[in-house]
Amino acid sequence: EVTRWAFDISSWNPSKSEWEALLDQVSTSEAERISKFVFKVDAKLSLAGRLLIIKFVTRYASQLGINDIKEIPSMLKRTSKWKPYLSRSEESRKQFFIDFNVSTAGDYVVLAGIAGETSLPQYCIGVDVMKIEIRGKDKDQEKFFESLSNGFTSAEWEDIRSPDSKAKQLQKFYERWTLKESYIKAIGIGLGLDLQTIRFDVAAEPLQPQHIVQSACVYKYDKPQTSWNFEQQMVGPNHVVAFAFGPPSECEIEFRNMQFYSGGVETKEFVTDMERMQILSELI
Ligand SMILES: CC(C)(COP(=O)(O)OP(=O)(O)OC[C@H]1O[C@@H](n2cnc3c(N)ncnc32)[C@H](O)[C@@H]1OP(=O)(O)O)[C@@H](O)C(=O)NCCC(=O)NCCS
Repeated sequence: EVTRWAFDISSWNPSKSEWEALLDQVSTSEAERISKFVFKVDAKLSLAGRLLIIKFVTRYASQLGINDIKEIPSMLKRTSKWKPYLSRSEESRKQFFIDFNVSTAGDYVVLAGIAGETSLPQYCIGVDVMKIEIRGKDKDQEKFFESLSNGFTSAEWEDIRSPDSKAKQLQKFYERWTLKESYIKAIGIGLGLDLQTIRFDVAAEPLQPQHIVQSACVYKYDKPQTSWNFEQQMVGPNHVVAFAFGPPSECEIEFRNMQFYSGGVETKEFVTDMERMQILSELI
């Protein structure tokens, strides 16, 4: 079962007491980390991401054998590369599969989660959301692209620059960027991957609102990675999201060395609209 939540923080303005109540829901170390953000918006995004993870895990508490949901924040650990995961017993891992990932950018926090019995196909999951905007102090698109030239192969850059309009080029850039990031985040490697060793084949047309595209294919050293699946969509008018679903054996997470059943992906499972959820208020 795949979950996709998109939470718009632009209209979320918690009062001081609400904020403190929400901060109390996460572990002490996470609350300390969040309190160190200089910009309020970064703290809001990070706290919302954390709460979405807790909310997601809470849904599966009984299948995970968690008797007291208050234990969940302290069960959330990070790998050496900083990817959050749920730490639990061998017994629980044998029976039930769960993975999740969050991404924050602009106005949105997006959570992607997957959970189910271990007799079903299992995937590790990665998500990346980006706001379509030119970054950099002089807001020059060419300079922005040049500053990130190592991120893509020359064929990928050719595709990004192929549309006549600058706006479409920028959108293509972010569609490709989020795909690569979602792949990196599903594996859990973070920085340290040579981004030129992976490339994507993608749909020629830019994403349209309310459409879900599942045709992207990743190549590693020119070999198609057919066990990977991707899903792309827009959230709001100016953010793009990519989800990556990969075989756990390729991902750097706690269950790497376990045996997995990997059947085919039922693509229809992924066709679910983003929900905008008023989840945070429920947690207070
Ligand atoms: C963590 C990383 C993987 C993504 O960072 P990002 O895009 O800035 O941030 P996002 O908002 O998408 O994701 C952040 C969340 O991902 C999770 N995360 C952290 N490390 C992670 C990892 N190694 N793998 C997967 N998820 C991770 C955390 O939940 C984090 O939220 P938190 O910081 O509030 O705990 C990033 O550090 C990174 O290394 N990126 C690759 C660099 C690159 O050059 N990419 C170019 C692609 S073209």
